[in-house]
Amino acid sequence: MPKTLMVYFSQGGTTRKIAEKISDGLEERQYQSDLHNIIDGPPPEIKDYDMIGIGSPVYIFRPPFNMLDYIKSLPELNGLPFFVFLLHGTNIGFTGNMIRKILERKGGREIGYTYFKGADYFLGYVQRGVLFSPDSPTEEELRSAKLFGRDIASHISEKEYVKPDKDPFPPVVYSIERMITNRLFTRQAYSRFFKVDEKKCTACNICLEQCPQKNIALDANGFPEWGRDCNFCFYCEMKCPEDAISSPIDWLIFAPFMNYNIRFASKDPSIDQVRVSHIKGKTTRIEG
Ligand SMILES: Cc1cc2nc3c(=O)[nH]c(=O)nc-3n(C[C@H](O)[C@H](O)[C@H](O)COP(=O)(O)O)c2cc1C
Repeated sequence: MPKTLMVYFSQGGTTRKIAEKISDGLEERQYQSDLHNIIDGPPPEIKDYDMIGIGSPVYIFRPPFNMLDYIKSLPELNGLPFFVFLLHGTNIGFTGNMIRKILERKGGREIGYTYFKGADYFLGYVQRGVLFSPDSPTEEELRSAKLFGRDIASHISEKEYVKPDKDPFPPVVYSIERMITNRLFTRQAYSRFFKVDEKKCTACNICLEQCPQKNIALDANGFPEWGRDCNFCFYCEMKCPEDAISSPIDWLIFAPFMNYNIRFASKDPSIDQVRVSHIKGKTTRIEG
């Protein structure tokens, strides 16, 4: 039985759900698929697999840094078939183009590319009272993920795959946001400004548990302190049950970008949204 390695990154669970459905589709076509969330540590080596799948959420119009690191760390693919699926709340930006380009440059053979909506728990939006794509992936999206899995299985053997075009260039403001939140700035600058209010912190360690990079440690007094390897996901701040954490996402310079994104996405009738309140680590829908 041919073997697929599906490597994904999922903090909110939507990418995991889609990965599982794609896996069901593949298995219906007699493909074994091994799933691995990169939060759980380094994935198995690809040398024992006949195909690789990459599942990534969109983080600020690009792949999360840890996903990029993984893809870049892959060896030469020498014609190995690959497929890519993305999860996004509003706009995929450059994510698909970046991942597909890297895999192709490594000599992979694309046999599938698609994207799905996923509930958008980005702190910059939920703290402003908006949750985009709240109910995604829906049952229909899950069904189409399974079909995608079946399609891949036929593309691998029949070679009839028609590669989708590159994704269109997103609005210029999104490119600026991607640039000003790049790896270098995050490492050298923003990562130094994650702070805890020691009067509020109860040392519950939820921030440590949430960090996908294990970038948070405890200082000599038992309070969290941040290293430089930040994934810029803000889950530490978002999940803090005491609202004790602050970070660059709270800076006034980011407010116009967040407001622009919310206005722009709100105008798009294909993107659902609900009003929410975000307090003490919990995002709650406001009825009515
Ligand atoms: C830090 C962060 C940044 C995000 N940036 C974007 C974005 O630029 N565009 C977008 O469409 N969705 C964005 N999202 C939404 C996620 O891509 C989407 O919610 C996805 O379903 C999350 O996957 P998960 O549930 O597997 O973690 C962002 C989410 C987070 C947490």
